[in-house]
Amino acid sequence: MVVSPIKTQGKKTKIIPNIIEIVPELKDILYIEPFLGSGEVLFNINPQFALVSDNNIHIINFYKSLQNKTITPQIVREFLEINGAKLQEQGCNFYYEMRKKFNETQSPLYFLFLNRSCFNGVMRFNNKGEFNVPFCNKDNRFAKALITKIVNQVSLIQDIILQHGDKWKFVCCDWTQIEKYNDFDCKKSLYYFDPPYVERHSTYFDAWTEDKNKMLFEHIISLKEKFILSNWLSNNYRTNTHIDTYFRDDKFNILPIEHFYHVGGKELNRNAILECLITNF
Ligand SMILES: C[S@@+](CC[C@H](N)C(=O)[O-])C[C@H]1O[C@@H](n2cnc3c(N)ncnc32)[C@H](O)[C@@H]1O
Repeated sequence: MVVSPIKTQGKKTKIIPNIIEIVPELKDILYIEPFLGSGEVLFNINPQFALVSDNNIHIINFYKSLQNKTITPQIVREFLEINGAKLQEQGCNFYYEMRKKFNETQSPLYFLFLNRSCFNGVMRFNNKGEFNVPFCNKDNRFAKALITKIVNQVSLIQDIILQHGDKWKFVCCDWTQIEKYNDFDCKKSLYYFDPPYVERHSTYFDAWTEDKNKMLFEHIISLKEKFILSNWLSNNYRTNTHIDTYFRDDKFNILPIEHFYHVGGKELNRNAILECLITNF
């Protein structure tokens, strides 16, 4: 399993085997993923052609920096070793200095540093677009073993990205705009949609509202191409009525998957939920 060094809410690490099991043969088919997040689904499916996007510019900048080699495993190691040692010496003040520098420079290296040393591994921005998550309060966050782990993750992902050259395209945009960037020659596409879950993920760049979800689901049910959609079916308290509203037709398959969320401070967000994969094939 390829694991990303970037932590995101709603990361699909645990259900990647379920996704891989249902992904059709992708030879000469364009893989389109408009809610990329950590990128782990992409890296594990490892398609020949990919058009992937997210509206979080920091995620996209990070992967573009690996693609154009402005970041290498060696650069990551040096950055984390130097700044990890300062964090250990100076504690939380240093974290907040790094956070300030990141908000001024938008540098992918600072992004990685914060992503791996902030509270609960969450990614949250204020309405000026500034990263505002507090420190995890572990001065020794970047112990040698963690740095090695992160560097190995970066190295593997960079190798995968570079193998594909310009057959993989990373774009920062709203999901509604992704088709504008499709200049591939492929005749067919497979979409993988993993949007934020309504009422569950409230800390993304923009809130994911009922209206946005409705617009997305209406678009998905009208697609002629094959798609896979990740979503939640139910938790201990309620069921996701949107699934029944949009995907009750026989032409859609709903595959339930048991899964557990680790990210999220509130008890509600830590409850087991029944997730599902929905397909039209
Ligand atoms: C559930 S996460 C995807 C997780 C990903 N599948 C993974 O395994 O890491 C949803 C992603 O959608 C992005 N997003 C939220 N609203 C968006 C929008 N309107 N357009 C594009 N991306 C959006 C978020 O930044 C987040 O990275």
